[in-house]
Amino acid sequence: MELKLKIILLLLLSLTTILFICATVRAGEEVEYLRPPPRKAFRLPWDPKPSSQPQQVHISLAGDKHIRVSWVTTDKSSPSIVEYGTSTGKYSYKAQGESTKYSYVLYRSGMIHHTVIGPLQDNTVYFYRCGGEDPEFQFKTPPSKFPVTFAVAGDLGQTGWTKSTLDHIDQCKYDVHLLPGDLSYADYIQHRWDTFGQLVQPLASARPWMVTQGNHEKEYIPFVVDEFISYNSRWKMPFEESGSTSNLYYSFDVAGVHTIMLGSYTDYDDYSDQYRWLKADLQKVDRKKTPWLVVLFHVPWYNSNEAHQGEADDMMTSMEPLLYAAGADIVFAGHVHAYERTRRVYNGKPDPCGAVHITIGDGGNKEGLARKYKLPQPEWSVFREASFGHGELAIINSTHASWSWHRNDDDEPVRSDQVSITSLIDSGCSSIRVMN
Ligand SMILES: *[C@@H]1O[C@H](CO)[C@@H](O)[C@H](O)[C@H]1NC(C)=O
Repeated sequence: MELKLKIILLLLLSLTTILFICATVRAGEEVEYLRPPPRKAFRLPWDPKPSSQPQQVHISLAGDKHIRVSWVTTDKSSPSIVEYGTSTGKYSYKAQGESTKYSYVLYRSGMIHHTVIGPLQDNTVYFYRCGGEDPEFQFKTPPSKFPVTFAVAGDLGQTGWTKSTLDHIDQCKYDVHLLPGDLSYADYIQHRWDTFGQLVQPLASARPWMVTQGNHEKEYIPFVVDEFISYNSRWKMPFEESGSTSNLYYSFDVAGVHTIMLGSYTDYDDYSDQYRWLKADLQKVDRKKTPWLVVLFHVPWYNSNEAHQGEADDMMTSMEPLLYAAGADIVFAGHVHAYERTRRVYNGKPDPCGAVHITIGDGGNKEGLARKYKLPQPEWSVFREASFGHGELAIINSTHASWSWHRNDDDEPVRSDQVSITSLIDSGCSSIRVMN
């Protein structure tokens, strides 16, 4: 008797579950786009390398016509040399760099090498080897003139969705990758920085990857380890080359684009080093040479998602007037795991002389998407959607650019948002300085 009751109860439970699933699917059908679920951590096959073999190779721009090659070896005595040339197997040039290592509680990093090479020709494929060891890698330098294309994706992590985002970026013809913070999601587990380095190597060894820090780069343990120790050791950016004293903020020129990387997690008030550096950097921008001004940082200033509301208010109060006065064209941020694009905006209101703000923290990390948006949609917000994906910014000439966002829909890089952006250079916005 009792068994019969149990069976009946079980049947009833199954029936309700099935009905519930059907109802959910039906509700899903009515919305425009049914979002796929989060994906598990992506694991590369275990592939032990000889201790002197270069691993986690990535490159970054390092001042005019120079590139910094970074890699890791287990062998602490491996030399920091890069051999390079314009044909495969023939290395006409050689450069010597520096190396560093760090410890983090019980973890000891491998030797992290940074070697600047150049002067290099523009828009040219180079073949190179690190530490005098195979394998050979290759990269293409960016062009010196328009057109130039940037791939943009933040909050990457290392999940199945990250892999999908990287595969789509690999299919696009881009010159430089821009990453507005949150790289590995190592979150104190240091060997995850190594697996992240391995995961991005195919792309980051072939095109410059320019990154800025997010909250996941901090990894601060009071009295034990300093903040950003792993990030700063591994992802050295051209801060010295751009007159900055911190790897957490810097700038660089590509073709006719001046790009500024700011730090959401270092001081930004009016008396801070970062603020002073930004002001000086903006004053040096010559819009004749670089008609486009692009800025990146991690925590968005314009965000109508429920997630991370108000977190950047202080930074915005301090720095938005500087960017406005300088006529910044486009601002990219991450942090919110979703996509949002604004119209030109300043001081919380649409403004034809303000910047277009784009939140692109949807690279595919393990924390999943930020699905809830504030209602009604603010006047300045044009497009918002919680899906993983990446963006492409194709700068056509001094006045015209095309921006597109591609979501990872069923592993196809579906183009979901596209817009032409005209630069402020010919806009009549009084603030734009052209030096003569
Ligand atoms: C820039 O490109 C746009 C779109 O292709 C074109 O209409 C415009 O004339 C170009 N401007 C210049 C200065 O070449």
